[in-house]
Amino acid sequence: MRLLVLGGTEFLSYAVADDAARRGHEVVCAARGVSGTVPAGARLVRVDREVGVEPLAGERFDAVVDVARMSYRWVRDALAAVRADHWTFVSTINVYKDTAVPGPELLEPITEETSDNSPEVYGGVKVASENAVLDALGDRALIVRPGLITGARDVHDRFGYWANRLSRGGRVVVPDVPAQPIQQIDVLDLAGWIVDSAERRTTGIFDAVGPVLQLGALLGEIAEAVAPEVRSDSVGPEVPSDSVGPEVPSDSVGPEGTALVGIAPEHLVEAGVAHWAGPKSLPLWAPDTHQGFVSRDGSAIVAAGLRTRPVAETARVALDTERGLGVDRERKAGLTAEEEAELLATLPHRIW
Ligand SMILES: NC(=O)c1ccc[n+]([C@@H]2O[C@H](COP(=O)([O-])OP(=O)(O)OC[C@H]3O[C@@H](n4cnc5c(N)ncnc54)[C@H](OP(=O)(O)O)[C@@H]3O)[C@@H](O)[C@H]2O)c1
Repeated sequence: MRLLVLGGTEFLSYAVADDAARRGHEVVCAARGVSGTVPAGARLVRVDREVGVEPLAGERFDAVVDVARMSYRWVRDALAAVRADHWTFVSTINVYKDTAVPGPELLEPITEETSDNSPEVYGGVKVASENAVLDALGDRALIVRPGLITGARDVHDRFGYWANRLSRGGRVVVPDVPAQPIQQIDVLDLAGWIVDSAERRTTGIFDAVGPVLQLGALLGEIAEAVAPEVRSDSVGPEVPSDSVGPEVPSDSVGPEGTALVGIAPEHLVEAGVAHWAGPKSLPLWAPDTHQGFVSRDGSAIVAAGLRTRPVAETARVALDTERGLGVDRERKAGLTAEEEAELLATLPHRIW
């Protein structure tokens, strides 16, 4: 198969190009080449989509995978320049209007260029981009709407925050919402499914999400994968949630000491800790208003062949990525050691 990946130098699009090249397909990646290099076996065609996709004009491919994040114009220009039998557009679950529950309704499409990066505008631009692909390709289009993507080469610092933080041990501040639903999909599983789908000419619209887990269970699995010193008996006695700064009982943790310490959502909000991502945040902590984005039904994509690996595998690879990026770098998401220490010193908390 001759495959064009619009991207190919960073995270998901790199994984797609890498997977396809390993299967022996001819892979062309179109990107600026500033986020990284393309995988072995793939060829880079330098394209800046802000300027246009002239270097691809008139080209024909068996399949195209486009990961355009937030530009309707980029998507439309690519559709006009390139011919293909099968076209995958990587969208997002942010296209859904109802954030609190997993409903079917979509946001209004946004076709104008904008510098507004808010989730609603991001979702609206993706709706317009999906429509452009569906209009141009009809029943040869595959629309993929991922939730949180995790694992190898993840530059977004969210899932990776937990792999890194839990590997370091000690008292780890977590949002005290162990039953919060959460979903994640390993980038290699998603990339493999996208390449399978191009090979099989799978079409339609799919939410690309892993199984719904509880946040407490997910963090526990990550901890076990990256911090082998966590013992099954490491959960100490419950500390009343109005107490401040209790020490972890010395007999309740492993040799290096790792304990998940829950702080109530209202205290975190008061202390200026953000949900989900960004500076001074607790990644993967979803506000009540956004539970719909972490509890979507993934049965359609599973029926279409998606296989998901155990969280522990993703966590170990995420930790390798974190260490490669430098664990002491300035992060896009999570708490600094100082912020975490201050929260522990000043806010009521309980050991999970
Ligand atoms: N990450 C998540 O958790 C998540 C969740 C839901 C949906 N998504 C969607 O998944 C898709 C992939 O996201 P990702 O974070 O994994 O990104 P990615 O695959 O790493 O894709 C970014 C690619 O776009 C290229 N690019 C950026 N600016 C460009 C330009 N001006 N001209 C040409 N190419 C350009 C980059 O290459 P150069 O910089 O080298 O040019 C890079 O190869 C996106 O559509 C995103 O909306 C992601």
